[in-house]
Amino acid sequence: MLRNIEGDINESENRREWRNGMDGRAAALLEADERLFFRQSLSSPCINAIKSAQGIYIEDMSGKRYMDFHGNNVHQLGYGNPYVRDALLKQLSELAFSPRRYTNRAAVELAERLCRLMPGGNYKTLFTPSGASSVSVALKLARAYTGRYKVISLWNSFHGANLDTISVGGEGVFRCGAGPLMPGCEHIMPYNSYRCMFGDCGTCGLKCLDYMDYVMKCEGDVGAVLMETVRSTDVHIPPAGYYPKLKRICEENGAALILDEIPTALGRTGKMFAFDNYDVAPDILIIGKGLGGGMIPMSAVLAKAEMDVCGDTSIGHYTHEKNPLGSACAMAVIDYISMNGVLEHVNAMEAILRKALSAIKENCEIIGDVRSIGLLAGVEFVKSRSTKEKAPDLAEKVMYGCLRNGLSFKVSGGNIITLTPPLVITQGELETAMDILREAISEAAG
Ligand SMILES: Cc1ncc(COP(=O)(O)O)c(C=O)c1O
Repeated sequence: MLRNIEGDINESENRREWRNGMDGRAAALLEADERLFFRQSLSSPCINAIKSAQGIYIEDMSGKRYMDFHGNNVHQLGYGNPYVRDALLKQLSELAFSPRRYTNRAAVELAERLCRLMPGGNYKTLFTPSGASSVSVALKLARAYTGRYKVISLWNSFHGANLDTISVGGEGVFRCGAGPLMPGCEHIMPYNSYRCMFGDCGTCGLKCLDYMDYVMKCEGDVGAVLMETVRSTDVHIPPAGYYPKLKRICEENGAALILDEIPTALGRTGKMFAFDNYDVAPDILIIGKGLGGGMIPMSAVLAKAEMDVCGDTSIGHYTHEKNPLGSACAMAVIDYISMNGVLEHVNAMEAILRKALSAIKENCEIIGDVRSIGLLAGVEFVKSRSTKEKAPDLAEKVMYGCLRNGLSFKVSGGNIITLTPPLVITQGELETAMDILREAISEAAG
């Protein structure tokens, strides 16, 4: 199943060449890392070692800085954001840990803020230490509330690396060979804003959702539909009518709509939540990653208050559940976004990013498609536009070309480069990054 391409097994030709020219200290760390950590697809062996990260930059052992257009989507507000750091330090000196069965001011205040941000405000929450844990909680809540255990999700989707979350996820690199997965997980085809099997997405009357409705009616007992509102790995953005129609279908079939916005909430799409781009309110929302400000792992499940039906079951009994440090960071993140006009800034930068990417695409046969929303963009590399055959080698070449010139991002799905800069990036920095990208693409195109 695994192919020898970037990210899949971390051992492509380009990776080997890149590591050959590496600084001695980084090479030693990488060697030790490989000896000590289990190898795993998409992760280890690693690409480089970093010694610090500040603002939009990560810095490697030789002092070379890279604009980080990946950052695992935890770096919305930049690395080491001083406002978040001050809030964290203050909380650290007040209360660093809150044992279960006790609550604390920071957690309660954050819960209040998050619930108030939701449409109608009538939501309750649970915090967890990771996105995958929150997906588990959401699935348990949906089961308890609907009395049904089946869940529909999409092929190619990602909802976390735990055994239950790879069961609902749709990526072979996680599922293949993992053994029996969780029962009741059904998958349908993904929305695909480039090449849907029903035609051009958005002009086909959303036939994929008719199919979803068909599956739900055939089954008759589906409890939940789980979706990434906007797919962040290979960047797929459903058309405007998608979610209102999906919500109707869920309601008609008695299923809860769970939206996973772990990488996309908190401004990535130019709105506080990705679902704000659509006329829809989820029954359950999951957020994480940047919620902890890139300092503390922090995730939250926000569900309609009427779903509070698990008083006699433990659905999210995590040691670091009402984490005061993560809560303090999250409140600082929310404050920072509103006090500094981050959403308005994202919308202004989005226009620059779009313009630059469409200009790059215009004269370039090796780019099959560019998709973007807010400061999330995917650039798809193909052998030629007419055949649309994937070109993973070109995507890799572009990535290493950019790395050499100080721009870091990742390749998804073999041939798509995913760009997720920190939301606080300046216009000048964004333009510099686009110059680096343009140069690497024209080099790769030969
Ligand atoms: C859409 C989505 N869901 C779930 C997760 C899992 O989050 P975590 O790694 O915090 O468990 C991720 C992480 O990349 C994600 O992108």
